[in-house]
Amino acid sequence: MGSITFHHVYKNYKGEERSAVNDFHLDIEEGEFLVLVGPSGCGKSTTLRMLAGLEEISKGDLYIDGKYVNYVSPKDRDIAMVFQNYALYPNLSVYENIALGLKLRKTAKHDIELRVNRVAKILEISHLLERKPNQLSGGQKQRVALGRAIAREPQVFLMDEPLSNLDAKLRAQTRAELIKLQAELKRTTVYVTHDQVEAMTMGTRIVVMKDGVIQQVAPPRELYDKPANRFVAGFIGSPQMNFLEGSIIREDGVYYFSGRRLKLAIPDRIASGLSRDSRSLRQVVMGVRAEHAGLMPDTGGEPLPGWHRGVVSMSEVTGADLYVYVELGEETVICRVQPDEDYARHAAVRISFKMDKAHFFDRETGVSLAAGGDEG
Ligand SMILES: Nc1ncnc2c1ncn2[C@@H]1O[C@H](COP(=O)(O)OP(=O)(O)O)[C@@H](O)[C@H]1O
Ligand SMILES: [Mg+2]
Repeated sequence: MGSITFHHVYKNYKGEERSAVNDFHLDIEEGEFLVLVGPSGCGKSTTLRMLAGLEEISKGDLYIDGKYVNYVSPKDRDIAMVFQNYALYPNLSVYENIALGLKLRKTAKHDIELRVNRVAKILEISHLLERKPNQLSGGQKQRVALGRAIAREPQVFLMDEPLSNLDAKLRAQTRAELIKLQAELKRTTVYVTHDQVEAMTMGTRIVVMKDGVIQQVAPPRELYDKPANRFVAGFIGSPQMNFLEGSIIREDGVYYFSGRRLKLAIPDRIASGLSRDSRSLRQVVMGVRAEHAGLMPDTGGEPLPGWHRGVVSMSEVTGADLYVYVELGEETVICRVQPDEDYARHAAVRISFKMDKAHFFDRETGVSLAAGGDEG
């Protein structure tokens, strides 16, 4: 129970030229934790609201458990939704807030009691049941809102940025609880966030959206290692993937990335993927993540094969990591190094790239032409 199918779904708001959601086409499996992620305005909430029945579908078909539901009202969809704003009833106690949905569905009093108590136990809010919402912290309120959704035992949970009003610590904690809860309840969950870290840690599958259009659907690891285009490559991961402009050339049977300041040999394994589409190779963008760029001080002397001279423009400590920004002419590359290493501003350095981890994108379309990775 709880499978969902979007069949070429569109949303066109009145008076808007561009579709807010454009050809959304996706199967969501029963029990899956699916995350919709993308920048603000990319159509995440609209997609979720169409699924909830709160927004009319302009074109395309929506199915829940194989049943066509385009015109089924929200209350008949067996869905519970949690929003960013908890929207608790201030005059009702925590118990009454959680019980309300069940009461409206004419659940027997005894059953309501059982369910509310069970949910309160799961969410560790049993001791708060007599309180009013204004006697709760933000995190507790959000748990009550979750409790209200869970108590109904719907087939599908929809959550729209439910943690964004919480501070960083509480957000991390509630995130962990939600993951655990979903694993226990095994209910289909569609979760919306603009935060790629949240998406990567929570989703079993992630849908990346931009301008109403799905960019890629994949498990977290695959999104990170094999981004389908430059947008996904830049959106997923922190710091952002480094991008260098250039072209791909071939000399004596070897492929090279030829950038403004660099000429880098491309390993055969990646090059073999590239060679099929030779026209687009003149204008490419190479992508390298910070952890795949090596750095060492430049003490002068001879050039070293595979190492390129640059200058440190700044560095950034983030606890476990140190990110060093290196200028290569007009382009800047961020390198991740050990936190105890020391690279002062203006220091001369040498930089190298793990080319077996490099990505190549078509400069015009952004489409991935080839990518390295772990698998062969
Ligand atoms: N009720 C509405 N009327 C007109 N345009 C809307 C409405 N709701 C959202 N939009 C537009 O649709 C696009 C997608 O919005 P939304 O789904 O809220 O994005 P997200 O949740 O990803 O931030 C945006 O361009 C937004 O301005
Ligand atoms: Mg939104």
